[in-house]
Amino acid sequence: MAITANAWDNYWIGSEAGVSDSEGISHPVLDEFWQRQFESVGDDEIIIDLGCGRGALLEHLPDRHVVISLDLSAAALRSLRSRRPEILPLAADLQRLPVKASSVDRVVSQFGVEYGGAAALQSLADLIAPGGWIQTVLHCRDSVVEQESRACLKATERFLAIGFIQDAVRMFEMGYQVLKGNATPGDARPLAEKVAEDIRSVNDLFANYGPDITGGSIRSLVENVGRIQAGIQNYDEQEVMGWIGNQQGEMNDYTERLRSMIDAALSDQLFAGLCEQLSASQFLVREAKSLMVNQGEPLAWVLVAQKSG
Ligand SMILES: C[S@@+](CC[C@H](N)C(=O)[O-])C[C@H]1O[C@@H](n2cnc3c(N)ncnc32)[C@H](O)[C@@H]1O
Repeated sequence: MAITANAWDNYWIGSEAGVSDSEGISHPVLDEFWQRQFESVGDDEIIIDLGCGRGALLEHLPDRHVVISLDLSAAALRSLRSRRPEILPLAADLQRLPVKASSVDRVVSQFGVEYGGAAALQSLADLIAPGGWIQTVLHCRDSVVEQESRACLKATERFLAIGFIQDAVRMFEMGYQVLKGNATPGDARPLAEKVAEDIRSVNDLFANYGPDITGGSIRSLVENVGRIQAGIQNYDEQEVMGWIGNQQGEMNDYTERLRSMIDAALSDQLFAGLCEQLSASQFLVREAKSLMVNQGEPLAWVLVAQKSG
């Protein structure tokens, strides 16, 4: 499924501001992989990082290297550029890569290129100059990341179906009307009771998925609504209504990102097909395997291939 730039922009803006848990996926086995991959990068190579986000990969590459950092999200590129001014940002869609054939020495990507679907994966071979490299870490079907994304998606869909956010909006609207003397506490009671009933449903959801599901974002949303409701007279109406009004959009963006991640994850068959396609296009596949964590659970595919010179 194609994803909107907006859904990723909001993710990276939240990440930069430290309001979301998201710095991208990190794990020592990924660090080890990239350190090893970057050991032999020549100083004058043209490198492109596909679906670069805020440039997690570049942490392992000395800043003397100039990297073309491609992403759909302008917010991610802005943030990356502010920390690594030497990069060349390229705001583009992976499904229509604006890169000339055989023009790149090294394509690198960590949980990026697969978001462009089959079209982006198939175009990889064309981008590389003779002797050049493809070095990628790709989402893998049934990996720990995909399983976590599926659980978060189910929990978020269930949370949205409860209608907590809309009920909290109505409760706050009425709360401020009561404070202004335009309504009575009796008018507000049924709305507060509806939110209390929603919270019971959310607690059932936590019993299934644990309170920290979705990185704790559902739990903190519910806690914040409770805190505001308990002392509504201390909170500015415009700020509260603006904040709660944004929550639905943020949850929608979040589910959109989770769905696109699940869609991007490559099955064994698709991964084998990609390796075969590269072998048939003058590439020597040097590494094609899943990276394991937690004593035998897959984290991701790694694919390293070199084009004949
Ligand atoms: C899971 S993040 C990975 C980011 C980074 N490589 C990392 O390891 O932290 C996926 C990135 O792909 C980008 N992306 C998703 N779909 C895209 C598309 N169709 N074209 C370009 N970038 C896309 C998103 O904006 C996001 O930054």
